[in-house]
Amino acid sequence: MTTRFTIESNREYWEDPNTISIIDSNLHALEIDYVSKHLRPEHIIADIGCGNGNATLKYAERVKYCYGIERSKLLRDQASRALQLSRQRNVAFREGDILDLSDYKENFDVVVTQRVLINLPSWELQARAIDNVYRCLKKGGLYILVENTNDGNDIMNAYRKKVGLQPISVHWHNRFLDFDVFMRHIDKKFRLIERHGFNLYYLLTRIYVQMFASFVGSGKNAQADDIFSKSDRAARILFEEIGDRIVFADNPVLGPIQGIVLQRLQP
Ligand SMILES: C[S@@+](CC[C@H](N)C(=O)[O-])C[C@H]1O[C@@H](n2cnc3c(N)ncnc32)[C@H](O)[C@@H]1O
Repeated sequence: MTTRFTIESNREYWEDPNTISIIDSNLHALEIDYVSKHLRPEHIIADIGCGNGNATLKYAERVKYCYGIERSKLLRDQASRALQLSRQRNVAFREGDILDLSDYKENFDVVVTQRVLINLPSWELQARAIDNVYRCLKKGGLYILVENTNDGNDIMNAYRKKVGLQPISVHWHNRFLDFDVFMRHIDKKFRLIERHGFNLYYLLTRIYVQMFASFVGSGKNAQADDIFSKSDRAARILFEEIGDRIVFADNPVLGPIQGIVLQRLQP
């Protein structure tokens, strides 16, 4: 039986100790590298929906001060424990909901949301979250999104179909962004600085290897052949070496997750 996607069911999902945020640790590392390259030593940043704080602690190494804002108590506690075990002293983890950021107003040089908007069950709520981020950014500040879009997912599934693979479906607790709708919404609020796909990584891990090896299920229910631990790692190395040099001319992104950098416009 599938669970209905509501704010409440999503909240419960992230309070469940069995939930896994992202099973593909190589892709998570690529996401972190992508965000990190935009961070500067003078930045005060907020990582909203920071989960267990693993990425937040990496971002803290590059900036002046880092706030990890998270709705789930389970994950905030994990993040606080990770902070105690780390050497970072420029991090605070706080309770917070991206749908209510009224405690913050033009505080941050950079806001990161890494697969957080996709945890909101409607476009109206996602748009409200984007507007909240806008208000808590300094003028000229950066909003770095690592989020999933439908067009990226559709392109990946179209290539899967060409080689006889079934489409990968969207998890019950996720709602991907429609990039065109997103772009119309941010007009006059933000300037698009870049959109970055993990294209080569997706091509190798979600299309090519899957022709020869089995990966079924997701999260804690995923069942994957052993080859994936080696092949995902190899795909990450290849992506790091040559990913940015391979351009998919007609498709800006291949694969659901992508990096998007926006700059807050004045006023
Ligand atoms: C896919 S996980 C990503 C965690 C982290 N950003 C990372 O990349 O490792 C999504 C996170 O968003 C959080 N989240 C979902 N809805 C939220 C909301 N309304 N406000 C704040 N955090 C939320 C979840 O609790 C969870 O920690």
